[in-house]
Amino acid sequence: MWLYLATLVGLYYLLRWYRERQVVSHLRDKYVFITGCDSGFGNLLARQLDLRGLRVLAACLTEKGAEQLRGQTSDRLETVILDVTKTDSIAAATKWVKEHTGDKGLWGLVNNAGISLPTAPNEWLTKQDFVKVLDVNLLGVIEVTLYLLPLVRKARGRVVNVSSVLGRINLYGGGYGISKYGVQAFSDSLRRELSHSGVKVAIIEPGYFKTPVTDPELIFRSFQETWNRASPEVKEIYGEKYFASSMKMIGSLEKCTQDLSLVTECMEHALTARHPRTRYSAGWDAKLLYIPMSYMPTVLSDAVIHWIAPRPAKSV
Ligand SMILES: NC(=O)c1ccc[n+]([C@@H]2O[C@H](COP(=O)([O-])OP(=O)(O)OC[C@H]3O[C@@H](n4cnc5c(N)ncnc54)[C@H](OP(=O)(O)O)[C@@H]3O)[C@@H](O)[C@H]2O)c1
Repeated sequence: MWLYLATLVGLYYLLRWYRERQVVSHLRDKYVFITGCDSGFGNLLARQLDLRGLRVLAACLTEKGAEQLRGQTSDRLETVILDVTKTDSIAAATKWVKEHTGDKGLWGLVNNAGISLPTAPNEWLTKQDFVKVLDVNLLGVIEVTLYLLPLVRKARGRVVNVSSVLGRINLYGGGYGISKYGVQAFSDSLRRELSHSGVKVAIIEPGYFKTPVTDPELIFRSFQETWNRASPEVKEIYGEKYFASSMKMIGSLEKCTQDLSLVTECMEHALTARHPRTRYSAGWDAKLLYIPMSYMPTVLSDAVIHWIAPRPAKSV
């Protein structure tokens, strides 16, 4: 009985491995547009795909980022400046992509640009704090997709959306987790709508990786700012001890995974495999902790978080 089961499981993984290693043809003729290429995952993915011979259209937020990337890549990689919060900027980038891709259409769209701050207990924040993050991480993803989807349809290509484990189990206040839940929901509806069009939609769910998004210095500063402007009542409820413990937890981000290729390999697979996955979890913390935790009954996952997280000084 056990042998029979083990054989079945082994066969399943063997078949899956064989299916997943098949690659689409003519990669050198395929155009991929990536947002947020100044640093982090977007920057590494742009360089990685360029090395593999794909035609990379890299969108950077700053001219400095674009110039540095061009300096590290082949002449085939092209850059454009894009702020995903600005409709004019998205429209101009779309026109630029159309000019480059012509009749071929766009094979890949990678919605990678994102910010994480401010993040703090919800009571410390204003509506504007939430809007700031949602504007980039969620509305930016939606608007860029709406503009570029006709070109992706033409190529029967791929949309790759970068979410996070925090889009499965949200650990902090602020707009970040909300935006990543939103990316999941948007990707789910898009995948179902496009299932007959030949376009495939993949979601990337990284754990914690060392990039500017998880830079403890930047998070410290933002956390301090939101604390400074919190009302005296809120400060009394949370207390200095809560603030200090939170700072300690933020400091532990210093130790998070440095190997960004764990994420960009998933993105590359989603773009180049004949049979891409719907979801890719990247990093051991994602695979062993956050994703399993997201399947636990809420009472259990809440208990785990309650046990780890700092506690406010007062309960009322
Ligand atoms: N690092 C992690 O642990 C982690 C985990 C899960 C998910 N993610 C997600 O992964 C994606 C990439 O983040 P990363 O970790 O690689 O950090 P990153 O290096 O800061 O990458 C984010 C990129 O987005 C750009 N950007 C910021 N605002 C923008 C805007 N309004 N328009 C266009 N581009 C903008 C940034 O440009 P500048 O550099 O010029 O600011 C940067 O190049 C994000 O969606 C993030 O939420 C990260």
